[in-house]
Amino acid sequence: MSLRSYVLASLYDRLVRVSEEACVRAWRAELLADARGRVLEIGAGTGANLAHYGSGVTELVLAEPDPHMRRQLCARLAPARGEVVDAPAERLPVADGSVDVVVSTLVLCSVADPARALGELRRVLVPGGTLVFIEHVAAHDNPARRRWQERLEPAWKRVLGNCHLTRDTEAAIARAGFAFERLERASMQKASPVVRPTIRGIARARG
Ligand SMILES: C[S@@+](CC[C@H](N)C(=O)[O-])C[C@H]1O[C@@H](n2cnc3c(N)ncnc32)[C@H](O)[C@@H]1O
Repeated sequence: MSLRSYVLASLYDRLVRVSEEACVRAWRAELLADARGRVLEIGAGTGANLAHYGSGVTELVLAEPDPHMRRQLCARLAPARGEVVDAPAERLPVADGSVDVVVSTLVLCSVADPARALGELRRVLVPGGTLVFIEHVAAHDNPARRRWQERLEPAWKRVLGNCHLTRDTEAAIARAGFAFERLERASMQKASPVVRPTIRGIARARG
């Protein structure tokens, strides 16, 4: 892994602190409050969601491919609370139909292949299982912001761990065979303008 990923992982919590406090932490708390059963989180990063998993979560699997992120995640995870695995979302070492809830927060912007990652999430879910998501997305309703996203994306993704600014993640989730039960669009306050457009919610795997 590169020096760049080491630096990014080391600075990550500080870089996002202001927007976490402004809104993202509250979104996490609200969406994860009802998570139950066996839960799989992809790209778990430094463990920002850990505090929000309640007692209804009987088994927690945290997948994270970056070793520097994984080190922080392991340090934050209480003993026996969950298992950390080294895996990208596109290749999950998890059996078909074995997970009740999958969680993706600020990850589908960065995966190499969103369709494949979403296909994996669909594969590992039990029939009718749910995807909980928070993602920043392309600015569909603001052409000027969208142009800035397009201009900045090549450099942005090189510096910030393959983070894309122009993904239409709502359409990708629907295409992967999920039906939205809850979908909210909001501005990520105190974040850079190019990552402010977000979607969040819960989608159920269609039968
Ligand atoms: C912006 S961080 C978000 C971290 C965490 N999910 C959160 O909500 O704070 C993006 C995370 O996605 C991870 N990631 C990058 N490519 C990935 C992939 N192909 N599969 C799974 N995770 C990936 C990164 O290592 C990083 O931890």
